[in-house]
Amino acid sequence: MKTRIFHPEREKDAVAEAAAILRNGGLLGIPTETVYGLGADALNETAVAHIFEAKGRPQDNPLIIHVPDDKSWLARYCQDVPAEAYALAERFWPGPLTMILKRRPIVPLRTTGGLDTVGVRCPDHAVTRAIIAAAGVPVAAPSGNTSGRPSPTTAQHMLEDMDGKIDGIVDGGPCAVGVESTIIDMTVTPPRLLRPGGLPLEALEAVLGTVAVDKAVTGKLAEGERPRAPGMKYRHYAPHAPVTVVTGMPHRSAGFISRHMGPEDGVICFDEFAPLFDGHAVHRLGAAADKGAQARHVFDALRTFDATDVPRIWAQCPDDAGLGLAVGNRLKKAAGFHVEDGGQALIVGITGPTGAGKTSALEAVRRLGGCVLDCDAVYHEMLANDEDLRHAIRDAFGDVFEGPRLDRQKLGNIVFQNPAAMAKLDAIIFARIPAELQRRMALSGADLIGIDAINLVESGVGALCRRTVAVLAPAEDRVRRIMARDGISEDYARMRVAAQKKDDYYRENCTDIWLNTSPSAEEFCRIAMENFQKIQEEINHE
Ligand code: TXA
Ligand code: MG
Repeated sequence: MKTRIFHPEREKDAVAEAAAILRNGGLLGIPTETVYGLGADALNETAVAHIFEAKGRPQDNPLIIHVPDDKSWLARYCQDVPAEAYALAERFWPGPLTMILKRRPIVPLRTTGGLDTVGVRCPDHAVTRAIIAAAGVPVAAPSGNTSGRPSPTTAQHMLEDMDGKIDGIVDGGPCAVGVESTIIDMTVTPPRLLRPGGLPLEALEAVLGTVAVDKAVTGKLAEGERPRAPGMKYRHYAPHAPVTVVTGMPHRSAGFISRHMGPEDGVICFDEFAPLFDGHAVHRLGAAADKGAQARHVFDALRTFDATDVPRIWAQCPDDAGLGLAVGNRLKKAAGFHVEDGGQALIVGITGPTGAGKTSALEAVRRLGGCVLDCDAVYHEMLANDEDLRHAIRDAFGDVFEGPRLDRQKLGNIVFQNPAAMAKLDAIIFARIPAELQRRMALSGADLIGIDAINLVESGVGALCRRTVAVLAPAEDRVRRIMARDGISEDYARMRVAAQKKDDYYRENCTDIWLNTSPSAEEFCRIAMENFQKIQEEINHE
């Protein structure tokens, strides 16, 4: 069989011809916002049987049916539809949500794998909805991969698995979401999440209140245990090489992997950490904080490793919030739930005006066995070593380097008199510092990290921190301290203190304010140690 590729954006009859394939009992690859599906007329048992053959899919694994954006279709194929199901359809369709509902007899048992329920969803893809509406039948469509392979997120992926086995594939571009739909069973109370997917659990909870989470979502089922979504029992999305998933804070999982991996091993990591794994086969998932990007890349990451001969794959895993639950679930399934925990760490940002006692607070971090990262020092090391940063500065300000060294005066002359130039320099630096800090934290392995940052708030470094501490002190104390520390006159000390940000700024922007009225640095350091321990206890109880 020759598999035809449709390009609906330039072929005006594509929708009608693709719909005809469905109506005539053929098999059609369809784009959706989640992943590509392998579609056939859900009411035609022979066509449905061909889906199972083309995928090599076990017969007891039911298919979900796809409907256009018209809620009347729900009542046509399902019965006893609860009001909450209509509320979800209203709120989230078209979109990455599949609801399990009681089936009407018109839906063949072959489609539902013998179950008296059926999964229904309305995909958020205009071309596919037009094709379904034109075909006039609900379309049964599992993900368009060969059983056991990662789900396809481009027409090309789908062609790799299905070329010659199906009538056509509609090329609708890369999938916007990248992981399959969220599946919720609406036939039980409370409704039960069977598969995390493109619609976050939190969004369902906002409409339904309580949602139960099926055991198969987070862990491996025992031998012989039956999941409620039959497909969850199969080892899906498995690349050839064994996968180990590492959970924990991003810098902890990266550190864990770099300490445990072999020289030939491959890595699936967040963008920030790719430089730590130089010399290895690396696939980036997206930035640590960008779960949308991670969802779009997770299957591609697993697929690309099949073309390499790495003996083992290590994968950094996001936390469970938002799309992280779905991304983590796909990685863990690929790993057969082989999961290691890189652990947590307390990251505290420390800031405050000069003379208030920030240095003593940082000393407290060291005495507690923690690691201190000084943003200013990191920036200066990057100026000397980081080609990307040097390049960006050269691009913006011309040649301000003297060989490897920055000519500070030259750069200062450009930026100090010109607020727009200063903002540009800040933007260049602030875009790079957090990633560099993440890498250094990964290498340190410490469970307490103190980040010394004057521009904690503006630089975005605060976003890496669980708590942000501002050390403040009365102006008179600060004048006295910096006179003693820097050997300067009282007038000059007063001028420097007056030029600093006001206390209110810190009160508005930091989570913790420590007022230093201690007579000695040593005493304040001891107080700071106690404060860090209190924060640790508070976090353990959260
Ligand atoms: O995003 C998606 O849902 C994609 C696109 C193509 O729409 N489709 C998809 O289908 O992921 P599939 O077949 O790969 O996954 C459907 C899952 C399977 O785990 C299946 O066991 C489960 O849904 N399922 C289908 N009908 C069910 C039912 N009546 N009760 C419980 N689970 C069901
Ligand atoms: Mg699938």
